[in-house]
Amino acid sequence: MKYKAIIFDLDGVICFTDEYHYLAWKELADELNIPFDRTINERLRGVSRMDSLEIILEKYSGPEFSKDEKEKFCGKKNDIYRKSLENMSEKDLSEEVRETLKELRNRGLKLAIGSSSKNTKFILKQIGLEGFFDAISDGTNITRSKPDPEVFLKAAQFLAEEPKDCLVIEDAEAGIDAAVAGGFDNAGIGSASDYSKSTYRLGSFSDILKIV
Ligand code: BG6
Ligand code: MG
Repeated sequence: MKYKAIIFDLDGVICFTDEYHYLAWKELADELNIPFDRTINERLRGVSRMDSLEIILEKYSGPEFSKDEKEKFCGKKNDIYRKSLENMSEKDLSEEVRETLKELRNRGLKLAIGSSSKNTKFILKQIGLEGFFDAISDGTNITRSKPDPEVFLKAAQFLAEEPKDCLVIEDAEAGIDAAVAGGFDNAGIGSASDYSKSTYRLGSFSDILKIV
């Protein structure tokens, strides 16, 4: 086998919570009268909540917000986002993702999550994957978000595997950059499927089965 383990990003890879992130940021940006669209949203993929706010604020020209105000905005965005997450269920895990994960497990690969999100465990519970992964590295155990490799290095460490033996699956350019910086091969899907730094490009999630 080419790899011993696979580390999956969550939002935009395992499930489509990336759309809920966008809608929640859009609601906040509209309220603050800050221009925000799907093109800017692409830059938020994989980056932490506060780093995302800082990117959105690049288009804001009023007086500087205090740290407390920024924390409040992040809290507000997260409240809107959590409402969408509360409506999620096992139906939000596609048949393709479910079957592919099962097959990878049957092949003896270790499976982990490597996500910047602090909502990771809640999302996994909502879609019926609580307890499924061998390790979870997420926004609650890192100090630097992607493109820093910390989240993937921690995932590999939790799995007791070397980066060279793990394949990272990502929909974010920041996530692919993080994988490369950590010494991981990676496969880009969705928004990152045509990114030049991808080791492999996936047309669809089940294409992972052709690589490993
Ligand atoms: C990443 C998303 O998975 O998690 C980002 O791609 C998001 O868009 C980041 O900002 C942090 O998520 P959360 O749930 O902790 O706000
Ligand atoms: Mg993602």
